[in-house]
Amino acid sequence: FNRSLSTESAQKTLSSKNNDQQHSNNEREFDSTGYAVTTKLCFALGITGSVIWLLNRKRNIVHAAQSESAGSLKKGLPTYSLEEVAKHNKKENRIWVTYKNGVYDITDYVSNHPGGSRILLAAGSSIEPYWEMYAAHKQEEIYEMLEELRIGNITEKSKDEQKDSSDPYANDPKRHVALKPSSSKPFNAEPPLSLLRHSYLTPNDLFFVRNHLPVPVIDPKKYQLTVTKVGSTKQVNLSLEDLKRKFNKKSVVSIVQCAGNRRSEMVTIKPVKGLNWGAAAISNASWAGACLDDVLKRTGIDIETVDAKHIIFDGADADPTGHNYGASIPIEMARLLKKDIILAYEMNGKDIPPDHGYPVRVIIPGVVGARQVKWLNKITLSDKESTCHWQQKDYKGFHSSIDWHNVDFTSVPPIYELPVQSVICEPEAGSVLEDDEEVTIKGYAWSGGGRGIVRVDLSADGGKTWHSAELSPTEQPLYKTYAWTFWEGTIPLPKDHKGEVEIVCKAADTAYNVQPDNVEGIWNLRGVLSNAWHRVPVKVPKS
Ligand code: MTE
Repeated sequence: FNRSLSTESAQKTLSSKNNDQQHSNNEREFDSTGYAVTTKLCFALGITGSVIWLLNRKRNIVHAAQSESAGSLKKGLPTYSLEEVAKHNKKENRIWVTYKNGVYDITDYVSNHPGGSRILLAAGSSIEPYWEMYAAHKQEEIYEMLEELRIGNITEKSKDEQKDSSDPYANDPKRHVALKPSSSKPFNAEPPLSLLRHSYLTPNDLFFVRNHLPVPVIDPKKYQLTVTKVGSTKQVNLSLEDLKRKFNKKSVVSIVQCAGNRRSEMVTIKPVKGLNWGAAAISNASWAGACLDDVLKRTGIDIETVDAKHIIFDGADADPTGHNYGASIPIEMARLLKKDIILAYEMNGKDIPPDHGYPVRVIIPGVVGARQVKWLNKITLSDKESTCHWQQKDYKGFHSSIDWHNVDFTSVPPIYELPVQSVICEPEAGSVLEDDEEVTIKGYAWSGGGRGIVRVDLSADGGKTWHSAELSPTEQPLYKTYAWTFWEGTIPLPKDHKGEVEIVCKAADTAYNVQPDNVEGIWNLRGVLSNAWHRVPVKVPKS
């Protein structure tokens, strides 16, 4: 065993546990604990997995104990009042927070917080409401890290005086049991791949869900969409009825794909921060509503001539400080897509379900899901992009030498159009084929910017020999293909297989963009834009 091999194996063991819940600093922990060193050593010596399992188990027991005791009263530490804690709300006075009955000095940790300066929202007060909101924090590693910053206690009495942190997710809707969650609070989940390929229009309750915050409860009678322009005193408010009655109903079949779709494949190279999505963080629906261009026109704004550089969309979902989800697109993009951007109130002929933006969301065909704001309540024409975190500090693509220590989010623009994508939905990884001579493969393909799919190539020998898949016909023009393309192909299996083969697909779009052959070259710290050849190992029966 050489050292690099053992390190890589150990990292893979570690990375398999990585998901969005793990804002924790895995690499830091990996490098700084005796456990990691021991693990590396074990690999190097070729000692069996059982030793590592035992070490892991021991480590988990330590963590479990810590998670139970985190925030409980600790003997020998000074006691502080909440008033006193509140004074420590900026760096000059040192930044303190409370968790249950614990007081913590987080001043030196702030710059390392994966969620950036948002941690300062809790400065001088309790972090509990934020941890309820961002449940990703509720992990053994994070409790452990927090206790390292412990400086004191608050009394039980003070604790009782704190505001009740009731569950902000209590009003979230019921979800279909088939959805596989990658996080529950906020709720994020994808359907099984085979179900996804079952229907061209994804049923509403199986459509993947990507929420950053609790689902807001909006009374359709009180719903208002505000349309305005920075610098203008004019502001127009439209009710749901206005949107339904005053404008022509326009529909478009369009996919929504998360920038993090297939992130789990990037994780196999090196840990990334983000939900551990499989290949089903994408779905296709028929959306209907008012056309953005029509709505802007009625409110006195001509998209072609308006003196603005961006259109900002704001959602009604907000964190405890009132910061809402929002995104923007450049005005040129809105001009190009003019008649195709829809303020949708219907999804597959029904009211949009709560998880997908009830009562209104914006559908921007060909563009990453992140800009298709749900629970839309405000549209602003502006010279500036949305200032929201998800526009400024997330959903951007970097090369593989940029990591959290040297990333500058201002150095690249936000992701808008997504690259060409294709995925094998059937057979699923690890399945045993019925035949030993040929295999029928089915999947989906899609590309950003309305670029249609012109070819899907299939291989049953890991990419040495290729065959063409048959593309399902689409009614959408080749240069305005917003829906996905289903494809299918039956191809021969290699004669020299040893009971296992790797089936592969790759697609080309109208610009003849093709998918990269491996994920190593496109690895990035947020695990976005994962679109390498889709490789699926399957077993072949012995004849
Ligand atoms: N809009 C709001 N208001 N809040 C959100 O959390 N998530 C965005 C986008 N719009 C989000 C939002 C992201 S990242 C994606 S991928 C899509 O919604 C997911 O849409 P879906 O949940 O309907 O699949």
